[in-house]
Amino acid sequence: MDKFVIQGGIPLKGEVKISGSKNAALPILCSSLLADDPCTFENVPNLNDISTIIKVLEVLGVKSAKKGNKVILDPSKINSYEAPYDLVKTMRASILVLGPLLAKYKKAKVSLPGGCAIGVRLIDQHIKGLEKMGANIEMSHGYVMASTKGLKGAHIVFDMPTVGGTENIMMAACLAKGKTIIEQAAKEPEIIDLANALKKMGANIEGAGGSTITIEGVKKLSGSTHSIIPDRIETGTFMAAAAITRGKLLIKNACFEHVRSIAEKFKAMGITIEEKADDTILVEGTSRIKPIDIDTAPYPGFPTDMQAQIMAIASIADGVSTITETIFENRFMHVPELIRMGAHLTEKGRTVTVRGVKRLQGASVIATDLRASASLILAGLSAEGTTEVRRIYHLDRGYEAMEKKLCKLGAKIKRVRGGL
Ligand code: EPZ
Repeated sequence: MDKFVIQGGIPLKGEVKISGSKNAALPILCSSLLADDPCTFENVPNLNDISTIIKVLEVLGVKSAKKGNKVILDPSKINSYEAPYDLVKTMRASILVLGPLLAKYKKAKVSLPGGCAIGVRLIDQHIKGLEKMGANIEMSHGYVMASTKGLKGAHIVFDMPTVGGTENIMMAACLAKGKTIIEQAAKEPEIIDLANALKKMGANIEGAGGSTITIEGVKKLSGSTHSIIPDRIETGTFMAAAAITRGKLLIKNACFEHVRSIAEKFKAMGITIEEKADDTILVEGTSRIKPIDIDTAPYPGFPTDMQAQIMAIASIADGVSTITETIFENRFMHVPELIRMGAHLTEKGRTVTVRGVKRLQGASVIATDLRASASLILAGLSAEGTTEVRRIYHLDRGYEAMEKKLCKLGAKIKRVRGGL
């Protein structure tokens, strides 16, 4: 398994270009299942999770072609309706083929995604919504077995805003008979991007980005071309890199609106954040980082996917910060690893108290999940001495060419292949 070896203490400087959003691309690639003919997607990031979802679609019979950040998917010869365990277990977002398969082909057999490091990751809301639309669903031998005589529009109220649940139901509703209303819908920018991609295919969707989304089913959807929005969590992660190394970065191809809640918290920590023209954000670190209190929340609140990263910054702030994780029940696995680097962290239930220290110390640490790996890399960029971040395959799921982008900004970081 690959690791990163990082020499810390270098302030990052220069320009970095943000890649397409992983969490927008995954559902949008799945939406191709709804179309009668080929779909073209641009600004698709080169990530392991993207390769996995393309493999799942190919197992279903989709023909794929990929050139750089462009992906063409041809769903006209679908010949299977089963997403197998060995693929789904590596990437739970594969459950997003369930809604489209049911809507278009009236049947689906999708492996239950199972939990992951950060939590149980239920799909009961997805199931509840699809059953309300007329799907017969049972769980058998670790699989979701679903069928329908034809999905019908329904009025669905989620128990909580679920990103994946909103995406699955929105896609299913596009080809259902009649109107579907989704209440307590997730409001993330990735939901809006999916709705925009579906509308280009001919879908009739109103209200995406708000808590109530209305979808009028249509008879068919055609292939289209859509460019994926920038990745707001990668943007936040590079903002954090400027902050923790006390450097100065121009972050290009970024959407400031999507990172407003992150920017507000960073400004409160004394970090300079300026929205520039042409989708550019200027971020400049400070010698004295102020402590901060964070409660993660659904969009537009502070994103859970930035919790590990801001904890790394708070670890060297002048004072005591508190970080409360409200979305996932086990998203503090970076805590013991940051403690190995000299951070003073105390975990109590869903809150970690962070007593800032002057400097973190380089150490060998282990990545446990995607955003924890980003947090440990940030800590290594700031720490005194050498940091080894092992199991970097977690990072490769969600960040395109991270070490190349960091090297261009002056970081001393290299990937060492193999090893434990
Ligand atoms: C999406 O996951 C993202 N993944 C996650 O990003 C992100 O952390 C999460 O949304 C929250 O913003 C993708 O978009 C591929 P949810 P998702 O359904 O859809 C509970 C990353 O690092 N819930 O909004 O799985 C659930 O347990 C990843 O890029 C149910 O109880 O998240 C969680 O506590 C990590 N029943 C909460 O809702 C359900 O049926 C939010 O989950 C569905 C969800």
